[in-house]
Amino acid sequence: MSIKIAPSLLSADFAYLSREVEDVRAAGADWLHFDVMDGSFVPNISMGLPVLRSLRRATDMFLDAHLMVMHPRKYAARFCDAGADMCTVHVEADEPMEVINSLKEIHAHGKLAGLAIKPSTPGNIILPFLERVDMVLVMTVEPGFGGQSLQRETLNKMAEVRGLIDKYKPGCLLEVDGGVNASTAAVVAAHGARVLVAGNAIFGRDDRKAAIDGIRASALAAIE
Ligand code: DX5
Ligand code: ZN
Repeated sequence: MSIKIAPSLLSADFAYLSREVEDVRAAGADWLHFDVMDGSFVPNISMGLPVLRSLRRATDMFLDAHLMVMHPRKYAARFCDAGADMCTVHVEADEPMEVINSLKEIHAHGKLAGLAIKPSTPGNIILPFLERVDMVLVMTVEPGFGGQSLQRETLNKMAEVRGLIDKYKPGCLLEVDGGVNASTAAVVAAHGARVLVAGNAIFGRDDRKAAIDGIRASALAAIE
């Protein structure tokens, strides 16, 4: 069984972004997770289109854009054009029809589409969207900030989402984001996550290879 590790660039040193990217690539990262915050959907502002465009020129790694923005339909196509390989929108960020239109727009641009849910959002909310998504992202912290502790109350929901995916959309990916480290990787994998985002646990350490290897080994040990 395979586990993907997606370092979250939110915890990288932005002054040396291409060096940070090269560092985690050489350390064995599978994807790069790119957090976009608008100061409205979440109480914080991170990075946006120009940074993604520059990154696209700097690396051929898979770019996993997590749009923590209101009305994602307004921006989804632009993030696709800027070079995202996957665009994930929040189910809480707009009316259901607009969320569906965002997912359609992402696919129309030839990219993978993801649907994210916050810690307090019920797992079965994904059902009407599942046929249109390539990945579900279960947030294990309140979106907006890196470096928080994983909320264990979200784990039952993670297992529920895993069950819904296995039943209705096998092949759809399940990503976990928030508070993932070598200690919590086992429990999130045991509850069904296969794409593990980690910011602080990777960029907060000098030895990125040891950090990535530790997260992957702990996740794999839980599912093998
Ligand atoms: C939080 C972001 C996460 C964040 C994770 O809103 O979506 O991707 O960077 O950071 P850690 O792994 O430090 O919790
Ligand atoms: Zn994220």
